[in-house]
Amino acid sequence: MQVFIKKDYEEMSQKAAEIVVEEMGRKKDGFVLGLATGSTPVGLYKELIRMHKDEGLDFSRVTTFNLDEYCSLAPDHPQSYHYFMDDNLFNHINIDKKNVHVPDGMAKDLEAHCREYEKMIRDAGGIDLQVLGIGGDGHIAFNEPGSSLGSRTRVKTLTEETIKDNARFFKNIDEVPKYAITMGVGSVMEAKICLLLANGAKKAEVLAKAVEGPITAEITASVLQMHPNTMVVMDEAAGAKLKRKDYYKHVEKMTDALKKK
Ligand code: PGA
Repeated sequence: MQVFIKKDYEEMSQKAAEIVVEEMGRKKDGFVLGLATGSTPVGLYKELIRMHKDEGLDFSRVTTFNLDEYCSLAPDHPQSYHYFMDDNLFNHINIDKKNVHVPDGMAKDLEAHCREYEKMIRDAGGIDLQVLGIGGDGHIAFNEPGSSLGSRTRVKTLTEETIKDNARFFKNIDEVPKYAITMGVGSVMEAKICLLLANGAKKAEVLAKAVEGPITAEITASVLQMHPNTMVVMDEAAGAKLKRKDYYKHVEKMTDALKKK
């Protein structure tokens, strides 16, 4: 795991954008980008939009797969993750909407749709880089505590904590869907690179457990310790409870120095 601790949310988002753009540049003939919703990656998406507008960053050969979607919300529902992605990224860049994939929470046969989603990822050649946030309960995507670390795309019942966390986006808590389609932990682990982002003091404890604690299905993000190429980018507040904070900063400096040699 490479850990980057940045001053604030803006610097975290910029570092994340740098990583995404560098990887996009390595695979100009077709890049497969895994995306996440939630408040954490919004700054990254803003930076990508800015780079598209100011610097001509090209998304015409990018294919995207989102991690998850609420069951029972149509793509044009303002609280659906599809709508969120249109609003926060897709409507502002030159991506071909044919190349955009978000699980369909309205699918008649949800299980068949989950299998089909996995197949679409495979057919696209797998995810080159997967953007991830971390939930207050340590989830990645909607893989709530206790999810199998080998799980695949499926329907998941959300925890009360997640429903409470997400109630801020709805008029009241009763409107928050209770189920979601989510890529599994095993599906996420197949991405060539995982990029986990976290900001704010309320993530400090769970992030320390995910990065430095034991690998456990109780904190599904902790399985990223087993991933050969994971980068974790956070702000100071989210990194406050890491035991090896100073070492990670030292490593970043030393790595930069080595690159300049
Ligand atoms: P947040 O959600 O970015 O809104 O904090 C993260 C998550 O639940 O994965």
